[in-house]
Amino acid sequence: MSTGTWVLFDLDGTLTQSEEGIWNCARYALGKMGYAEPDAATLRKFIGPPLVWSFQELIGMSEEQAIRAQGIYRERYNTLGLLENRVYPGIRYALRCLKKAGMHLGVVTGKPENATRRILEHFGLIGFFEQIVCATDNKADKEQMIRKALPEGVTDAWMVGDRKYDMEGGRQAGIHTLGVTYGYGSEEELTESGAEKLARSPREIAEVLCPGTEGVSGAFLSMEGLDGSGKGTQLERLQDTLERYGYELVMTREPGGTPISEKIRGILLDRENVGMTDETEVLLYAAARAQLVREVIRPAVRDGKVVLCDRFVDSSAAYQGGGRQLGIERIMEINRPAVDGTMPDLTVYLDIDHRKSLERRMAVSEPDRMEMEADSFHARVEEGYHKLIAMDPGRFAVVNAEGDRDGIAAEIAEKVLARLRMLEMED
Ligand code: TMP
Repeated sequence: MSTGTWVLFDLDGTLTQSEEGIWNCARYALGKMGYAEPDAATLRKFIGPPLVWSFQELIGMSEEQAIRAQGIYRERYNTLGLLENRVYPGIRYALRCLKKAGMHLGVVTGKPENATRRILEHFGLIGFFEQIVCATDNKADKEQMIRKALPEGVTDAWMVGDRKYDMEGGRQAGIHTLGVTYGYGSEEELTESGAEKLARSPREIAEVLCPGTEGVSGAFLSMEGLDGSGKGTQLERLQDTLERYGYELVMTREPGGTPISEKIRGILLDRENVGMTDETEVLLYAAARAQLVREVIRPAVRDGKVVLCDRFVDSSAAYQGGGRQLGIERIMEINRPAVDGTMPDLTVYLDIDHRKSLERRMAVSEPDRMEMEADSFHARVEEGYHKLIAMDPGRFAVVNAEGDRDGIAAEIAEKVLARLRMLEMED
């Protein structure tokens, strides 16, 4: 540990948003004790005050009942509620920028140590922090905790938080204070309690504390699979997970994703275009892609976002290279100017037998021009994907797509999160 600039963060309302877990646990405890589901306004009041007080004052329980309710609440909180958190979008970006600028980061929170560490661990944030100071024995004196978090000799330090306790604690400990207005405290509360600076979004924290530092880049992910592999559902599930983890997501698709590319999509999937030659088809997919790479994917990745693209050049390689038998190498060659070196950091492949996937697809809606192709076409597409994976195994996360949706979603999440974390560590 060394001196230099230290930035200490409060947890709840600054790094993470915890209301979902709090509300679910309050509902659970009340249900178990035979109380009716409280309205949203009452639930909202559970954030902040001690639980026993809330159960007594907001619900009308006796002290004995409230203590029992607290026990039931905690039982759920320690297993499930704790992880029903959300990292504010942009927090990961801000933490990476501060680290890149050479700052030392810490967490100072009124939450107990066990819960704090589990939350930070679960969301892959713990590696950012050199120091974690938590409340002990229900005592949460922020000033003392801040002093404890800072190594001796530190002269430049900031407390970043969303409530007056953070601002007052920071001032009393003699360090700078930055109030975040996106948490649970109002701008008024923060300025009145002495916030020197304000940040209206997580990204602004980095802008205020290390202005002029070059930003960090994001990542490019794609998902591939046969028509009917469950790609739509799994993209939605992955989007939810990544947003919960604080990644700023840009969802897009191929062919499409820009106004020009969507027009090309219309031509490609139009059932009337039966006369389209294979070469025209390849070039139209490549043209739509060239636009998407330049207009959406590159700018977003440069800006630190995570792009999640429904299909990319692998689809051309599998469908036109395999399905249409134009050859994978030839398709990659044709696509070289379109892609121009921009390839996914990770491609999730939903692995499913082509007969099963087509059956699933046909049960849902009318087939488009591509889906109207014969069984042998789809068999060659599947084979094409397997060749691509064998050519570049490190880029693919292959997931068996024939199991249950939740299991598939969990496996995808684990693999994608691991890759994103690896990329973050490269800063
Ligand atoms: P979607 O139904 O997943 O949106 O994909 C549209 C169709 O286009 C699908 O059948 C796969 C096909 N396709 C290709 O043949 N080549 C490509 O390069 C892309 C991106 C999609």
